[in-house]
Amino acid sequence: MARPDKLYIGTNTKMYKTIAQTADFLDKLGRHAADIPRDKMELFVIPSFTALETAAKYAAPAHIVLGAQNMGWEDEGQFTGEISPLMLKEIGVRVVEIGHSERRHVLGETDEQENRKVLCAFRHGFVPLLCIGETGTEKDAGISDEILRIQLKRGLHGVTPIQAKELWIAYEPVWAIGVSGIPASKEYAEEKHQVIRRTLVELFGGESGGAIPILYGGSVNNENASSLIAMPAVDGLFIGRCAWDADNLNRIIRDVMPIWGNKR
Ligand code: PGA
Repeated sequence: MARPDKLYIGTNTKMYKTIAQTADFLDKLGRHAADIPRDKMELFVIPSFTALETAAKYAAPAHIVLGAQNMGWEDEGQFTGEISPLMLKEIGVRVVEIGHSERRHVLGETDEQENRKVLCAFRHGFVPLLCIGETGTEKDAGISDEILRIQLKRGLHGVTPIQAKELWIAYEPVWAIGVSGIPASKEYAEEKHQVIRRTLVELFGGESGGAIPILYGGSVNNENASSLIAMPAVDGLFIGRCAWDADNLNRIIRDVMPIWGNKR
């Protein structure tokens, strides 16, 4: 079975950071990470829409992959407030984040909508970063595995094994995300990453399904980052609050890089 060949580290800045703050963050992060070979680490940042154009000017020369936090599923049309894939392409966005828990649970997006976005992202040559995760209630009911499998099967319906080679997955348990979140234990994260891996292999076969990076997200911090990355099925980290200071994100990167290296 194939395996992801790099460490994946990235952040979504949510509804934080103005254009100027994003530029400053990327400038610092780019300088911090300048010595890290990018065939070993995929470093990505997903800022707000208004900051994307400026962010591209900093991200590209620093080899930081640029992502968008959401995307409409049509090329154009009467969809007030939506952003077209053509608009993102024009700016140089490579990754499109789809189905973050706040989009699903605060704004009511469904698996069917995430699926349309995933298929649209592939049509336009983006890397879809599909976020999945169970709620606390679903966890307590003992149906986390079923929920993850449903989110994957519905969200990835119609995706081919060839397309799946460009797919990234973030496992972000809803109960672990944000200020009131409790980070998943490394054992719990490992178990769920294994469920996700098995489902991806079932859907796309070992060559494609085995190589899709599965990132853990949800209250990743300086204390738990290394132990999460040490787990065999955790291929990267998708970090919120603790990544928004470039110096601190650099500290996390430096901590986890050698651990990821030892694991291989
Ligand atoms: P957090 O956010 O690290 O602040 O919990 C993670 C996320 O929402 O991706």
